[in-house]
Amino acid sequence: MATLSVKLRVWRQPGPDKPGQLVDYSVTAHPDMSFLEMLDVVNDGLIRQGQDPIAFDSDCREGICGACGVMVNGVAHGPDPGGTVCQLHMRRFRDGETIVVEPWRARAFPVVKDLVVDRSAFDRIIAAGGYCSVNTGGAPDGNAILIPKAVADAAMDSAACIGCGACVAACKNASAHLFMSAKVSHLALMPQGQQERYRRVVAMIEQADADGFGSCSNEGECEAVCPKEIPISNIARMTREYVKAMLTSR
Ligand code: SF4
Ligand code: FES
Repeated sequence: MATLSVKLRVWRQPGPDKPGQLVDYSVTAHPDMSFLEMLDVVNDGLIRQGQDPIAFDSDCREGICGACGVMVNGVAHGPDPGGTVCQLHMRRFRDGETIVVEPWRARAFPVVKDLVVDRSAFDRIIAAGGYCSVNTGGAPDGNAILIPKAVADAAMDSAACIGCGACVAACKNASAHLFMSAKVSHLALMPQGQQERYRRVVAMIEQADADGFGSCSNEGECEAVCPKEIPISNIARMTREYVKAMLTSR
């Protein structure tokens, strides 16, 4: 199959406090290469020339870990809906196309280097409330607590969030509401999540505020780019949880 030639415009920034700029690279790629494999090829060439390779994050390269997110032509995770950057392939682009690659832009996700951002603010939100307490001991019988199928399905759909941060990057307010609402919904729907139910939602929202995430103005940009297609109806559920928490003094 023929190769395709593209011009990459990549955000290069040597460090958090250093100025950055877009730098152009000419790339010849196989259409069946993944986007990250194409970046690997670019980096091989840069290393051979004694230049600094482009820093970017990746781990699983199969849409599970949430590490790889970048803006591709202004869209979080690129042009394929319901997928991550590591699931994007070069056949999605035209021969001769210019592809602009930038890091997530959000105050709460400061740039570490080039395309790598610090997403530890998400870890702090999870540490604030994104867990449930359990009594240790023997494993309970699988059928001891029956969960209606519809509830289990909704909880599992929410648990699909991979913490990639695309929702924040796509939001003009840099809001973490879709991310938080996925965690809140997952736990609020299950019996195991009831113990901290109201304390959890308040603690997570307070932590997001402290880390500089914005509020939600219901534009739906987050839902449009989420690789796990988490619906914004979860944000409505989180708001209801928050109001109930306020009315019941947590
Ligand atoms: S809600 Fe979607 S876009 Fe946001 S962190 Fe989770 S998987 Fe990523
Ligand atoms: S590298 Fe794990 S989701 Fe892309």
